[in-house]
Amino acid sequence: MTAADNGSFFIATPIFYVNDVPHIGHAYTEVAADVLARWMRQSGKDTWLLTGTDEHGQKILRTAVANGVEPKAWADELVARAWLPLLDTLNIANDDFIRTTEDRHKQAVHKFLTLLHDKGFIYEGDYEGYYCVGCEEYKQSADLIDGSEDFPDARVCHMHGRPVEVLKETNYFFRLSQFQDRLLELYASQPDFIQPDSVRNEIVAFVNRGLEDLSISRSTFEWGIDIPWDSSHVTYVWFEALLNYITATGWGSDDDTFAKRWPAVQLVGKDIARFHAVIWPAMLMAADLEPPKRVFAHGWLLVGGEKMSKSKLTGIAPSDITDVFGSDAFRYYFMRAITFGQDGSFSWEDLSARYEAELANGWGNLASRVIAMVTRYFDGKIPTELGAVLPADQAIHDTIDTAAHGAAKAMSTFAINEAIASTWRIVDELNGYLTEQEPWVLAKDDAHRQRLARVLYTAADGLRATAILLSPVMPEASQKLWVALGADNSVGPLTKQLLTEAGTHSTLPPGTPVAELVPLFPRIESAE
Ligand code: ME8
Ligand code: MG
Repeated sequence: MTAADNGSFFIATPIFYVNDVPHIGHAYTEVAADVLARWMRQSGKDTWLLTGTDEHGQKILRTAVANGVEPKAWADELVARAWLPLLDTLNIANDDFIRTTEDRHKQAVHKFLTLLHDKGFIYEGDYEGYYCVGCEEYKQSADLIDGSEDFPDARVCHMHGRPVEVLKETNYFFRLSQFQDRLLELYASQPDFIQPDSVRNEIVAFVNRGLEDLSISRSTFEWGIDIPWDSSHVTYVWFEALLNYITATGWGSDDDTFAKRWPAVQLVGKDIARFHAVIWPAMLMAADLEPPKRVFAHGWLLVGGEKMSKSKLTGIAPSDITDVFGSDAFRYYFMRAITFGQDGSFSWEDLSARYEAELANGWGNLASRVIAMVTRYFDGKIPTELGAVLPADQAIHDTIDTAAHGAAKAMSTFAINEAIASTWRIVDELNGYLTEQEPWVLAKDDAHRQRLARVLYTAADGLRATAILLSPVMPEASQKLWVALGADNSVGPLTKQLLTEAGTHSTLPPGTPVAELVPLFPRIESAE
């Protein structure tokens, strides 16, 4: 058995630069990683979700200097004030949070650099070329634009729209060029190593054009991790930042933990796919470590057709949305409305419309109607003495089964939006079922008592399945529904329910008292 199929699931987000506060682009990555992690955890896998912050390099240094503080003080402030609170805002159940200024990271980075140096993968040489501080990336001429509106005479980074700098330094280099064949072999032997295919194709083409050795140190500033054998250099920020995935999971200090966790699924935005799918696996190969399990590059949230960004000041604060709609709706909206892997645009109108139609009137209203009828007609207990299963009930059983399987299949390829859509068939069909079965009419005649019991039981059991299947996406609303169904008492804690068994119908115990259901998605007071 290789580590790749050891039943564990380690997923990591990028570690984010602390030059500024997060916007909904960063929140998008956090939510997607958390939904995947919660899903795998609730499918019985030994799951680990890692996130954190990237705190060295010139970008942070310059921001700190411009604000008149030391870079470490700047990072401390931003982490405490913005990056850690983001996790609460979004209800992220991460297992660890790594900061690259922590000792555990620095020590393991030293160890890694020493190892590669000893193995002959690092040498001293001269770098002359372009550098974009916004990307913290060495740039090829072909990556640049000749002048922009604001900077007509400069060579400009197409991502940041600002002039790049020309560097001429003696640096240490990593022999990246030696890994071209092994990388191409990896991409060929494991076609889903990079997903989606659009990004995969671009990376394969890039590596096919040939790789140059990578400068991995800088000597003109000090904010970074020093090179162990030459303290006049600091490590190139990307080279050490990528290592966070293994420095946080015990590489070099706790072999058992590392063996249990690694390799990771790397969830990143497509802006940084090359770092994760080219440089990172090559670094690991040089150290005789396994490459990541998979690199999934999601799309961008766009504003006016461009990537939302900190540097262009087009960011929207996640709390602007959660303060109005709550974290569940935030999570649902971004996971449902955007095909995972493609770009998408955020709009307040679309969010409001989906909140109203799908959450409040769709799932929320279904839940409150069913709980209300159980309360009124069955003295607040999940019905017992159920009438025979008729074809309409059987159809719901089948829907629950199909929806659960469809969701699991979609999640195995990270098609999060499809998994939600699959689950939503239960919501839609139950709403139709109630309209057709008219339990409020059955309730008028005692002769239909058992039929009424069957109908409301079927609906309540369908809700049980939705609570489990949607709990990775909307943990709060699912929990409220779970408690209202009495399932917390009769079945056990929601987070202990296996997603793999959610599709088994009629598992909600009859006779359990239901509890009052507070509206899952309250009406939003309009701003006007
Ligand atoms: O690149 N749409 O950090 P960063 C979707 N520190 N996702 C977005 C986004 C948008 N408009 N904007 C940002 C770095 N993101 C490095 C990473 S990892 C070893 C080092 C998300 O703060 C997305 O995940 O610039 C993107 O890849 C990441 O934030 C970049 O964050
Ligand atoms: Mg960036």
